[in-house]
Amino acid sequence: MNKEIQKIGVIGAGIMGTGIAQIAIQSQHEVYLFDVQPGAAKQAQAKLQDTFNKLVAKQKITEQQMGEALNNLHIAEEIEALQHCDLIIEAIVEKLEIKQSLMKQLEAIVDESTILASNTSSLSITAIAAECKHPERVAGYHFFNPVPLMKVVEVIQGLRTRPEICNQLVALAQKMGHCPVRTKDTPGFIINHAGRAYGTEALKILSENVTSFSEIDQILKASLGFKMGPFELLDLTGLDVSHPVMESVYNQYYQEPRYRPNVLTQQLLTGKKLGRKTSEGFYRYMDQQKLDPVLSPKYSPIRHQVKRVWLSTEFQSDFTQLSQYLSERLILINHESKPSKNDLILIANYGEDATHAAQRLDVNPEQIVCIDMLGNFDRCRTLMPTLITQRKYIEAALDIFTQAECKAYVIQESLGFVAQRVLAMIVNLACDIAQQNIASVDDINAAVKLGLGYPHGPIEWGDAAGREKILLILERMTAISHDPRYRPSPWLQRRTKLNLSLNTPA
Ligand SMILES: NC(=O)c1ccc[n+]([C@@H]2O[C@H](COP(=O)([O-])OP(=O)(O)OC[C@H]3O[C@@H](n4cnc5c(N)ncnc54)[C@H](O)[C@@H]3O)[C@@H](O)[C@H]2O)c1
Repeated sequence: MNKEIQKIGVIGAGIMGTGIAQIAIQSQHEVYLFDVQPGAAKQAQAKLQDTFNKLVAKQKITEQQMGEALNNLHIAEEIEALQHCDLIIEAIVEKLEIKQSLMKQLEAIVDESTILASNTSSLSITAIAAECKHPERVAGYHFFNPVPLMKVVEVIQGLRTRPEICNQLVALAQKMGHCPVRTKDTPGFIINHAGRAYGTEALKILSENVTSFSEIDQILKASLGFKMGPFELLDLTGLDVSHPVMESVYNQYYQEPRYRPNVLTQQLLTGKKLGRKTSEGFYRYMDQQKLDPVLSPKYSPIRHQVKRVWLSTEFQSDFTQLSQYLSERLILINHESKPSKNDLILIANYGEDATHAAQRLDVNPEQIVCIDMLGNFDRCRTLMPTLITQRKYIEAALDIFTQAECKAYVIQESLGFVAQRVLAMIVNLACDIAQQNIASVDDINAAVKLGLGYPHGPIEWGDAAGREKILLILERMTAISHDPRYRPSPWLQRRTKLNLSLNTPA
């Protein structure tokens, strides 16, 4: 039987080490905090005192709880003071050789039962443990910043890590009030791996000049319920951090096209437009406030331009929703098999642009406006004409779909609008993480919700949005673009074709 973890050593008293120490001492564990920099651990102690004072003032904790927590914290002047710890978590500088030599140094100090864990966010646990005598007691324990608020921790099993070690780390995380998710030691683990789809696909859309970065942000927030748009997020994280992460995951997976980074962020990085920290990235900032670019709209909604709509949908639910919406607005629908000369041809399609829709349906491209029905129809409508759609049809469609609380956007041609292709990529990537057996479906869903703040877990989101739709988007995008980036994961294909939930385990 493994003994319970009671004494925890934390090495590195920076942002992460201090956060980890906080949740450990608050959950009645004794913590020994060490940093090579003289005075750094003491400074962290003062910071924690400050944090607790604020929590007491806000009545989040009592004075007694503060006292007990602080009594659990010991400042280690020498690394040897960590000798009797059951677990040591390192949160030092992100350099492989330094982490490797620390692990070796620790092995000479502690006995064989001590678990050694790394809070690395990008290095391989297998590599960190490679120089150790007992790599089987080394695991990853990846917390997120700020640790007390980000309630998820990835428990990473290196190639040689004993599974029981991970079980102990899982149990400890639960005691500390965190949600542990188990993952194999692969580039980006779960969260930084699953998070590749949102930013890279948004960048791809921008690089295809489909619409502006600020409209992509607006569409994704309104349509899919993200708290932040991808460009707001890139600016917040800083391109000096996010671009290298994109490149690192891409290269570690041997240039897998699903993770392909984009020259746009490389250029901003070169031009030192790093985001909020330099007051300019995609957006500009004044006094830390984002300045939204003012765009003059190309089209305005104009009433009574067309008398009738001819509707083409690929799913019955879209037909029901759109025909009801049009009827409520007293707009006539032409139910004939082919549109007439003056009808607005409204197409609710998936994974194709308006030109391919015109070809597929053999209808006049001058009358076409496509609409994205995948996201939240009550909050956002995205319209896509062909290159030669007559203005009167675009302005009529804008009039039909603009409402007081709901903006309609006209974008340039795109395989899969904006929301469709971003959501399809998120679901597909998560399905592929499940297919690779990196983590369980439940852990992937929980990790992404808690770690990235998405409104749904990515695999359960596929079911909710409609797995047939997600598969169709990816199949069409692959067929038309010939870009292997969009090829559907076998996980998604098999479950969709067998009409099983995407949560169905292998
Ligand atoms: N900052 C984040 O958002 C974040 C999130 C998840 C994981 N991480 C990972 O956590 C680790 C620490 O990150 P951070 O942001 O807290 O860094 P930080 O720079 O705030 O703190 C690192 C601390 O480690 C100390 N240190 C460096 N080398 C040491 C050594 N050999 N022995 C003892 N102490 C040493 C430094 O003096 C410093 O106080 C890194 O591996 C990082 O990748 C960071």
